[in-house]
Amino acid sequence: METAKPSLSDSLKQDFHELSGELWGKKGYLAKAAFLTAFFAALEFAYQYLFVTPGDADFSAIRGFAFAGATLIGVAVSLGPLANFKQAWNFVEYRRTFGVAGFLLACVHVSLVMAKIFNFNLGAAYYSLNPFQNPIIFGSLALSIFFLLFLTSTDWAIGKLGFRNWKSLHRLIYFAYIFSVLHFIQINPPAIQNLGGYLLLAVTFVGMAFQLAGYAKKVTSGKAGLGTYFGAGITLLALALFAIAFFFKRAVGA
Ligand code: HEM
Repeated sequence: METAKPSLSDSLKQDFHELSGELWGKKGYLAKAAFLTAFFAALEFAYQYLFVTPGDADFSAIRGFAFAGATLIGVAVSLGPLANFKQAWNFVEYRRTFGVAGFLLACVHVSLVMAKIFNFNLGAAYYSLNPFQNPIIFGSLALSIFFLLFLTSTDWAIGKLGFRNWKSLHRLIYFAYIFSVLHFIQINPPAIQNLGGYLLLAVTFVGMAFQLAGYAKKVTSGKAGLGTYFGAGITLLALALFAIAFFFKRAVGA
């Protein structure tokens, strides 16, 4: 017997079901997630404090929280395409938790940077608005978008905006992710050369490869629609920005 193909609204309902925060309502789920997040950040901090910059609590915390936050955001970005490869690898219901946890750790990173490095002097932090000269600009762009996504990460926001609008808004994650990678690969390259940095780079590489593979799969199966152009535009933008960061900094006055 032929099984009926799911209609568009069925697949939207399925998406909504996976994205909605039912897990957040489960007893003990948020407490467990908060504990695991804090544990991971503590491990990253301890590693920096004991082995990378022994005894330097300020920089160990700045980098430990930054690595932990960016790594969790990288995992969140990888979960969407991973689910498209195989039904058994569908962990999309955890994506929101990883994203929100990563954002909150990134906020701690930024607060520490502002307090410990710049003494809340915004003029010192934003000494140049050229993002290739001052990668804090890329970090700030990323953080602003993550904040918008964080604010609208609730089921209430999905209901208010309508699922389609909400999904379109959350496509900004691609820009935010590219900006955050451009931030941390440029700001202090020697600081990445340790296990915390290598883990982050590995997750980032996997995340980007998954996104590209997921995109290619959607385009070749004819399911991408307008997303074909959106995906091509984002990929070209990322390639151009990474090419400038690695090879043509001088051309943009950095
Ligand atoms: C207003 C926004 C931000 C500011 C002012 C900022 C500032 C900084 C500074 C000054 C450093 C260098 C610390 C050092 O000397 O090692 C740094 C490193 C780092 N930041 Fe940010 N950051 C921002 C946003 C972000 C965001 C959104 C992420 C990603 C989630 C991020 C991830 C990282 C990582 C992973 C590092 C360590 C790698 C490295 O030092 O090269 N930052 N950030």
